[in-house]
Amino acid sequence: MTNKNLVVIGTHWGDEGKGKIVDLLTESVTAVVRFQGGHNAGHTLVVEGKKTVLHLIPSGILHPKVRCFIGNGVVLSIPDLLKEIQELEAAGVAVRDRLMISLDCPIIMPYHVALDQSVEQRRGNQKIGTTGRGIGPAYEDKVGRRGIRLRDLLDQEQLIFKLEALLHQHNFMLEQYYGAAPVTLQACLAASYDFLAELRPMMGDVLSTLASYRKTGASVLFEGAQGALLDIDHGTYPFVTSSNTTAGAISSGCGVGPRYLDYILGITKAYTTRVGEGPFPTELKDDVGRHLAEKGHEFGATTGRPRRCGWLDVHALQRVVEMNSLTGLCITKLDVLDGLKEIALCTDYEVDAVGTSTPVYEMMPGWDTPTESVKSFTELPENARAYLARIEALCGIPIDIISTGPDRSETIIKRTLI
Ligand code: GDP
Ligand code: IMO
Ligand code: MG
Repeated sequence: MTNKNLVVIGTHWGDEGKGKIVDLLTESVTAVVRFQGGHNAGHTLVVEGKKTVLHLIPSGILHPKVRCFIGNGVVLSIPDLLKEIQELEAAGVAVRDRLMISLDCPIIMPYHVALDQSVEQRRGNQKIGTTGRGIGPAYEDKVGRRGIRLRDLLDQEQLIFKLEALLHQHNFMLEQYYGAAPVTLQACLAASYDFLAELRPMMGDVLSTLASYRKTGASVLFEGAQGALLDIDHGTYPFVTSSNTTAGAISSGCGVGPRYLDYILGITKAYTTRVGEGPFPTELKDDVGRHLAEKGHEFGATTGRPRRCGWLDVHALQRVVEMNSLTGLCITKLDVLDGLKEIALCTDYEVDAVGTSTPVYEMMPGWDTPTESVKSFTELPENARAYLARIEALCGIPIDIISTGPDRSETIIKRTLI
């Protein structure tokens, strides 16, 4: 079966391996689109041993014929975008003639970064553990209908007028409330307007370009950032990011209507991780947790922070299947479970009077034969197949892809999606 428009969504708290799978599936599409989040994301691609980490540029960029789009739902740090473009160019990847950025993207300004860091500092031990990139404050200005968008760079006079009003407000907060240094107009222009000439050729109408692709029957891949449990509405609020990370965000985030999505793939790590603060019922602080962190190299691709590790939370996954209308799953990092005697699957929570969730586990036997780098389903050890079958049964959808290592090639494709 083939599909025209494919969606990739993280099913837990991010870092499920979305980048690897998007890169792999890009082989068969015309374009890859980011529709939410910002450079808080860190998507890792490994091709023939060579590693690339992307934050804003869609993970289709390594395929020379593919077009990449940054939709209006993405908050844009211009200096970080250009840095990423330059790094790719230095590695021999052409970007500028293949990348279109929506004129409606809200711009992350230096005061957003200052506010993000000040708010976190003030929260003390109640902090969210954000990436400190200004993501939350940039979305606040967007929703507050006062944000600066990419198209505002086209009118310098109006831009300065709007920035002066924003600086008035935000510097008041920064100085008077947080006791932090104010941000200058010059710093804001240096992080935005000064790059206009460089950005201009990449700025465009993403909605109408994607509409023209649809009319010619071209396939498009939508790359989610973060994960469903970090969704501003459905996640573990307030320990979430500031965008909708679920499939429903595609329409608002790039202008492709919901009827045009053909297959929604959930990327699920074979165990669960979380970086930053917030509830994590299946977290393991024992030797198994340390084993997962070490074997899975669980350090953030954006901030380098160690990721918390635990058993796969299928109970949460069942809700995520529903809220995204997932068609199928891709299980990544199965190889990290190699060598464990027993593996637990969380199938339910017991919730006490104050709302604390204790996981209920189903125990499954581990496997001795490694799954690392295995490329065919029948070569997987029987217990690994049983583990996958149990996840399928509990979620009610098929596992169509299995990832057994970081490299593009270390993948089992059970069903061709596109
Ligand atoms: P993303 O944010 O969802 O794209 O995921 P990240 O790139 O932040 O984190 C996933 C990490 O796991 C990266 O270092 C990948 O190279 C690595 N990875 C992806 N799939 C596999 C896999 O199947 N096995 C192993 N061992 N590593 C993987
Ligand atoms: P990818 O796309 C994992 C987390 C942060 C923090 C919370 C809010 O690589 O999976 P923010 O800076 O967004 O306001 O931080 O969200 N977070 C991520 N965790 N992977 C990500 O992206 C994340 N992006 C944000 O750690 O807990
Ligand atoms: Mg990541």
